[in-house]
Amino acid sequence: MSTPGHEPVSAATIAACSARRHRLGEVMAGRQLDALLVSNAKDIRYLTGFIGDDSLLVVSGDVAAIISDARYDEFLEPWRQSPLAEVVMGTRHRLEQSVQQYCRRSGVKRLGVQAEHLTVTKRATLGEVLGESSLVDTEVLIGRLRMRKDDLEIETIQRAIAIQQEALDEALGRLSMGMTELELTAVLEYEMKARGATGPSFPTMVAAGARSSIIHYVSGPPEIQEGTLLIDWGAVVDGYCSDMTRTFGVGRLPQKVREIYLIVLDAQRAAIDACRPGKTCAEIDAVARRLIDAAGYGEQFGHGLGHGLGLDIHEDPYFNQLATDVVLEPGMVMTVEPGIYVPGVGGVRIEDDVLITDDGCRVLTDYPKDPAASVIEPAVASGPAR
Ligand code: GLY
Ligand code: MN
Repeated sequence: MSTPGHEPVSAATIAACSARRHRLGEVMAGRQLDALLVSNAKDIRYLTGFIGDDSLLVVSGDVAAIISDARYDEFLEPWRQSPLAEVVMGTRHRLEQSVQQYCRRSGVKRLGVQAEHLTVTKRATLGEVLGESSLVDTEVLIGRLRMRKDDLEIETIQRAIAIQQEALDEALGRLSMGMTELELTAVLEYEMKARGATGPSFPTMVAAGARSSIIHYVSGPPEIQEGTLLIDWGAVVDGYCSDMTRTFGVGRLPQKVREIYLIVLDAQRAAIDACRPGKTCAEIDAVARRLIDAAGYGEQFGHGLGHGLGLDIHEDPYFNQLATDVVLEPGMVMTVEPGIYVPGVGGVRIEDDVLITDDGCRVLTDYPKDPAASVIEPAVASGPAR
């Protein structure tokens, strides 16, 4: 049954969430927990499909309760009609009391809590309301499950990628000399939303000229002129993030930037080729880092090679030098994004999203990155793209 204005929870979501809950139940069984209190909104979405903030989930295998407040009452109607969870309406800022009542009525005596997510204050409140002895700190139980994506998640990330790539094509078609970084950011974000994205997966980064050497640049009023243009952007679709970076030469790539472009591209392709189950994340990072080191730019590659991608833009696992005991597994979706950054000259980063498969990996993104394709001509002679 559907609520006016709201679709029922889809059969695909119900099936996926049930399978995820089954896996969680196996992990919890080893810890003798009667239930887990999930406070991280992304994890609640992962296990139920419900996207409301400020809510809690008490879950034990197939049995679960979403504990929320009046702001989400109507929104939660499809969940009331689904087999995924009971819905308990509580009072904002007093949800711990509702958790306590639910646990008492359901016979929950050992309740796991998400130590990696709770603030010290929230943890103390839970201890006061539920009794310290009934709480068991757990760490990243759901985060570890989320590392391996299921078919629904992969399909959703692919939709986000398709949207971000189409949006970039459209935005670059409206690029003009003198347009500001923020104007291009706005066009790109508009085009993603116009295609169904609920938002960018992080603040869209458009860095013109030498500013491209600032790794986590914040786009601003500077104008886009001939030369380097680094764009790091992504879309959120049905909660899932995509993430890519391309470095362009507007009119031309400055000679030094072209030199580092070729090194970064080689390093990125070699790292992607090396991705397969059983390799550690540190080994994959080292493939790119060795090539960049050998070219003399090791000091200018000041970040890890990439990160897991899913409901969060950055999530476990991470490609970096510390990840010597983190092993790639089928179903992981990772970014591969080496970069070289030369202050005063410019930076190059090239970022794609890859799915680890049973015997290697599949690159999910396919926006051109050949050096020839990286040189673009503004489609519009001059002036902002209004
Ligand atoms: N693309 C943004 C980041 O990975 O930090
Ligand atoms: Mn990234």
